Amino acid sequence: MTALQSWPVEREFDPKNMPFRRLGPSGLRVPVFSLGGWLTFGDTVVGDPVKDIIKMAYDNGINMFDTAEGYAGGKSELEIGRVIKELGLRRTDLIITTKLFWGVRKGPNDGGLSRKHIVEGTQESLARLGLNYVDVIFAHRHDPHVPMEEIVRAFNYVIEKGWAFYWATSEWGAREIEEAHHVANKLGLMAPIAEQCKHHMFHRERPEKEYHELYKKYGLGTTTFSSLAGGLLTGKYNDGIPDDSRYAAHSAIFKETIAGLRSPEGREQIRKVKELTKLAEEELQTTIAALALAWVAKNPNTSTVILGASKPEQILENLKALEVIPKLTPEILRKIDAILKTTPEPLPTHGRPALDKFGRI
Ligand SMILES: NC(=O)c1ccc[n+]([C@@H]2O[C@H](COP(=O)([O-])OP(=O)(O)OC[C@H]3O[C@@H](n4cnc5c(N)ncnc54)[C@H](OP(=O)(O)O)[C@@H]3O)[C@@H](O)[C@H]2O)c1
Repeated sequence: MTALQSWPVEREFDPKNMPFRRLGPSGLRVPVFSLGGWLTFGDTVVGDPVKDIIKMAYDNGINMFDTAEGYAGGKSELEIGRVIKELGLRRTDLIITTKLFWGVRKGPNDGGLSRKHIVEGTQESLARLGLNYVDVIFAHRHDPHVPMEEIVRAFNYVIEKGWAFYWATSEWGAREIEEAHHVANKLGLMAPIAEQCKHHMFHRERPEKEYHELYKKYGLGTTTFSSLAGGLLTGKYNDGIPDDSRYAAHSAIFKETIAGLRSPEGREQIRKVKELTKLAEEELQTTIAALALAWVAKNPNTSTVILGASKPEQILENLKALEVIPKLTPEILRKIDAILKTTPEPLPTHGRPALDKFGRI
C-alpha cells in the first residue's frame, strides 16, 4: 500500500493490444479507447453491473475512465470510485478524468467556472470518487460570466494543489480555447491540453474544421464523445426505438432526437447508416459500430475515443474497432465520405492558392 491509495491492489493492468497516444501536447499517454459514465453509471446502470462493465473494459486494455460532477447528480463519480476500490485497481495504472460546470446543486455558486466553484467542485468530486487526485480536470462548458484569467488561475491552483495533473476544456468554442492559451501564456501558467468534443460521422464541423488551427498551433488533443451518436451508428434505431435502449430510457432528454428520426433528415441519416453497414460488412468484415468508432480513432487529431456502454458485451463489440483502424485506407475513407456527404468545407483561402498543392494548407 502506498500513500497514493488506501486499498489493496488486486488486479494488475495488462494493456493487451491497446495503442496509447499522447493527450495533446502533454506527456500523458491515453488509450485510444477509454470509457465514460454519462447516462449509465449511477443512472440506468447501478451496483454490480457497473463493476462488470468497468472490469470488462479494464481487462481489455482500457485504463481511462471519464465522469463529471453533474453525471447522475454525482452518483456516476460515486459508482466509479467504489468500483476502483472493489476491483483493487492500482491508482497509478489509471487515468481518471472528471468535469466541472453543471454542479450537483442549484445554488448561485454551485456550478459554472468561478474560482469558488472550481476549487470547491474539485474537492467535492474527489470526495465522491474517494481519490486524492484526478489525472485531468475538464471545464465541462465555457462560462461567459467569469473572466478568463479567473478560470485559468483557478485550474492552475487546482493543479498546484496536486488535485489534478492537467486541465482541459469541453465543448468550448475555438475562440475561447485561444483566449485561455493567450491568458495562460501571458501569466506563465498551464494552458488546457485537450478538448472533450462531440465527434461522430454526422457531427464534424467543430472537431474537424473549427479546431483545425488549434491542433496545429497548440497540439490540442481531443477526448471525443458520442462517437456512436448515442447508438444511432450501431443501427439499433434503424427500425424504431428498442425498449432496452438509451433513447427509450431517457426519452425526455432525447425528445427532439427521437422526433428528428422521423424527419426527412433523420430518415436520410438512417439510410446512410444502412449503406455504411453494408460497406462495413462487405468490405471490412466488421460491424457499423466498430467502423464508426474506428473512423473517429483514425483521425490524426483524436487522442482517445470515449466509449459509452450499458452492458459489458458492448465493450467487447466496440473494441473490435481496434482491428478496423488499420483497414481504413484512403480509398475506404473516400467511400465513407461519399456516403456521408458530411465532410466540412475547407477553410476559405479568399482566392489565394493553397500553400502546398499536395494537400497541406
Ligand atoms: N463532455 C461532454 O459534454 C460529454 C457529452 C456526452 C458524453 N460525454 C462522455 O463520453 C462518453 C461516451 O458518450 P456516449 O455515451 O454519448 O457515447 P456513444 O458511444 O455515442 O453512446 C453510448 C451508448 O450507445 C449504446 N451502445 C454502445 N455500444 C453499443 C453497441 N455495440 N451496440 C448497441 N448499442 C450500443 C449504449 O446505450 P444503450 O445500450 O442504453 O442504448 C451506450 O450507452 C460519456 O459516457 C461521457 O463520459 C461527454
